[in-house]
Amino acid sequence: MEVVILNSTDAVADRCASIISDLVHRRPNCVLGLATGDTPRATYRRLVELSNRDVLDMREVNAVALDEYVGLASDDPRSYRAYLKRELADPLGLDSRAVHVPDVGSDDLQRSCAEFEALLERLGGVDLQLLGIGTDGHIGFNEPGSSLASRTRIKTLHPRTVADNARFFPGGSDVPRHVVTQGVATILSARHVVLIATGDNKAAAVAAAIEGPVSAILPASALQLHPHATAILDEPAASHLRLADYYRGVQEHKPPWQGH
Ligand code: F6R
Repeated sequence: MEVVILNSTDAVADRCASIISDLVHRRPNCVLGLATGDTPRATYRRLVELSNRDVLDMREVNAVALDEYVGLASDDPRSYRAYLKRELADPLGLDSRAVHVPDVGSDDLQRSCAEFEALLERLGGVDLQLLGIGTDGHIGFNEPGSSLASRTRIKTLHPRTVADNARFFPGGSDVPRHVVTQGVATILSARHVVLIATGDNKAAAVAAAIEGPVSAILPASALQLHPHATAILDEPAASHLRLADYYRGVQEHKPPWQGH
């Protein structure tokens, strides 16, 4: 895994936005897998700034969500569909038909999951999957114990994730317990996965994901099996990495043929 340690959360967002915008320049109709939550917000703002300055045009991109809560009303602003529309699709001028979120309103959720997998295949797979990480090491909502071979399916959230998510549901009583999420194997089938993490509350999960054993108990560790995975971290999120100095050195002394 390529590990990039940067000195601020802004620098993480800048680097991540620049990886995405390079891809969109090379391949305007690429398929982007999008995370939600707090971490990617700053990256999305950078992309919107680039688009407002006319240096990036994402209108041909297809966007796919990683996951969605089950049980919220279809117009609930806390849904991930609403988040992606508000933070990214509307400001970037994406056609709503190009933003794909699992259909959690269906009576047959298993069918929705199968349809979402079929959609990913029809789109030709995901070119770049952006990921955050849970304090329990989840990616998407693949909670501890998730099969590393899993595909899109319904999951019950771990109590720690429910507690972490409570900040998005003031009052606390209606925090969703269930989600539809891309599986670990679904995520691994993206051509490039980019994990971003900021803040010291992520440090233990980040270290276990990058340097720990590959194990279902910490689903993000499965990223070690991916041939093209990049982790972009701020210093607090990198603070438990044993090889942090080595990763910094690798970034400083890139071989001349790799450019910047
Ligand atoms: C969201 C998602 C989750 C989050 C993770 C971190 O689509 O799949 O895995 O990325 O829970 O959330 P934040 O960034 O809010 O700390």
